[in-house]
Formats: sequence, C-alpha cells, structure tokens
Amino acid sequence: MAFSANQTYATGPKFAENFPKKTISTLLKPHNFPTLNPCKKNYLLPQHKPLYISSATGFGPARTRDPFSMRCNAYEAGRSQPVVPISIGFDREEAAQKAKIGVYFATWWALNVVFNIYNKKVLNAFPFPWLTSTLSLAAGSLIMLVSWATNIAQPPETDLQFWKNLLPVAVAHTIGHVAATVSMSKVAVSFTHIIKSGEPAFTVLVSRFLMGETFPLSVYLSLLPIIGGCALSAATELNFNLTGFMGAMVSNLAFVFRNIFSKRGMMKGKSVGGMNYYACLSMLSLLIVTPFAIAVEGPQLWAVGWQNALSQIGPNFIWWVVAQSVFYHLYNQVSYMSLNEISPLTFSIGNTMKRISVIVVSIIIFQTPLQPINALGAAIAISGTFLYSQAKQ
Ligand code: 3PG
Repeated sequence: MAFSANQTYATGPKFAENFPKKTISTLLKPHNFPTLNPCKKNYLLPQHKPLYISSATGFGPARTRDPFSMRCNAYEAGRSQPVVPISIGFDREEAAQKAKIGVYFATWWALNVVFNIYNKKVLNAFPFPWLTSTLSLAAGSLIMLVSWATNIAQPPETDLQFWKNLLPVAVAHTIGHVAATVSMSKVAVSFTHIIKSGEPAFTVLVSRFLMGETFPLSVYLSLLPIIGGCALSAATELNFNLTGFMGAMVSNLAFVFRNIFSKRGMMKGKSVGGMNYYACLSMLSLLIVTPFAIAVEGPQLWAVGWQNALSQIGPNFIWWVVAQSVFYHLYNQVSYMSLNEISPLTFSIGNTMKRISVIVVSIIIFQTPLQPINALGAAIAISGTFLYSQAKQ
C-alpha cells in the first residue's frame, strides 16, 4: 500500500504486545496519515524509521464478520513481520444510524413518487382535491386503527396534553396537504414540486421573522437562487395557473410550521414514536378537514364526478384512488419516522432531494411539456437548496 510514516517509539515484534490497540490509537495522532482516513480516524506512529502500511484486510462483509472494521499492518522497511497491527473501527452506532436513515429516505422518496403519480391520475379524472385529500387521511387513519387493533403496531399512550400539542401540527398539516392537492389539480405535478422546492426559503423567513432566529449571511445568500429559480420557473411555465401556484406556496408555508411544531411536539413529553405520531396526526387532520371538504365540494358534486371518472377510466379508477390514499399514508409515515431521527433542516433537505425524483418521473410519465428556460429555473432552485444546506451546516 501506499505510504510510510516515521517512528520514534518502540520498534520490533514486541511493539504490538507492549502497546495494546487502545494505546496505539492514542499514540497515533491525526494529520500525518491522510490516506489512512477512511473512518475519520487518523493514525500516526512517531518515529525514526520509515513504516509501511499494508493493504487493509477484513474490510466489508465478504472478508470479515465485522463489516465496520478493517485491519492493516505497519511494517518497518525491510521487515516481513508486521511491527504494528492496526485496527480501525467505524463508530458502529453512527454507521447503523446512517444506514437506517438512508433506508428511510430511499423508501420515503419511492413511496412519494408512486403517490404523486396516482394522485395526479385521480385528479385528472376526478378534480375534487378536497375529497381526495380527505380520503388519503381516512386511509391512513383506518390503516393505523386496524394495525393497533390487531397488534401489528403498539397503540400509543396519549393524554389530553398530547392532543393539545398535536392540534397546531394537525391544522398546519391539513392546510398544507389540501393546498398541495389543490395545486396539483390545477397544474402539472412537476410545477407544484418546483415551487415546493422553495420550502427552505420559507423555513428561513419563518424562523427569522416569527421566531427571531438569526442566520449567517451565506444562508440568506443561498435563498437567492432558490427564490430566483422558482420565480424563473413560474414565469416560464407553459400551463401557469394562479390557484396552482398559490396552492404550492401556501403548502410550503403550512409545512414549515408543521415541521417545526412536529419536531417540538415529538420532543416534548412522552415519545410515541414517529409512526404513531403520524397516525394520530392523520386522525386529527381527518376530523379537521371533513367538514370543510363537505362544505367546499360536497356529496352531490362528488357523486356526479365519481360517475364521470368511472365511465372514463373504468373500474381501475377505484384502484387509483386506493393507491393514492394508501401511498400517501405510507410515504408520510416513513417521512415521520425519519423526522423522529433527524433535524427539521435535514428533513427539509431530504424533502427537496425527493422532489427531484418526483419532478423527473412525473415529466416522463405525464409527458409534461417543458421549456429549457423552465427546466433551468428548476435546476437553479434545486441547486440553491443544496447551497442552503451547505450554508446551514
Ligand atoms: C400533500 O398532498 O400533502 C403533498 O402532495 C405533499 O407534499 P410533500 O411532497 O411536501 O410531502
């Protein structure tokens, strides 16, 4: 392998015995072995003779039972026996946590793409966003009630205070959900998500002006491409619709509050876990939205619209409705399981990356006409969210 180091302390075969691994780790200091840094732990043997480090062995599950460690040896020049066996360990808990969040994120994005496709298919045939929003919440509530009743999931222990804390979250969730669905009933899925990629700008503005939080200048500067990119995309959207645009903007604002309140609520009092937290949120949101859905759209319009959709699409339409409702619940449930583990900021960044997959897949599936300048606006906005994430770190 790869590099040598100088040695000032003991040499010879006894070295390893005399210095247990832990001691070696403390002797090996950062900054001198930059290439031996796969685990963010650097090792240095101080010295008077050069040392050579052998290739790592035992790295990865095929070679070792321990996928999070690797071993290599330090040799003096000209010796064939290792002077120092070096064992480098990842922080297992950290690695497991990262893997878990990675799985959550991938599942969340995949479920979200499926939801968006079926949601738009349903809305194209049945343009009643209040009812479809209500059905998504009803499906989630039903799934969780059945899971609790059959012990698939452990029911949460809640008290009145829990529901009081949940109320503002549920109001924000309901508004954000209905607003996004109204938006998608009026404009292309990709357009709604391009505007929704501006969510970090809303996070900063709300945190700054309503919560008094301050940010470094770089964070404010990173908002320029986000806002500029969204504005460029909106100005050049071929099928621009004001209700669709405003729906996405209102959804952004509502979801910023939802995420802030949720995180606070999840940290306050007894934890019910991300899955049960989202289950309770669905139920409370369902109670909030139902009277509004009846007032705004109502059963008579729904009955006529349903018949139209069935005659246009056939019985598959019912499966589309089921799919959009169930996938809505599933992706949100997984996203809440992620939120339980990460900060609202990381959540918001994950959410923006999710939008890239939704935008690309929906453009392909619905063959959305897209002008290059419009795509440029989307790319600028999304790049802005990455700059924002760097600036916030
Ligand atoms: C909804 O209906 O709640 C939205 O489509 C979800 O938007 P999100 O992508 O921000 O979760």
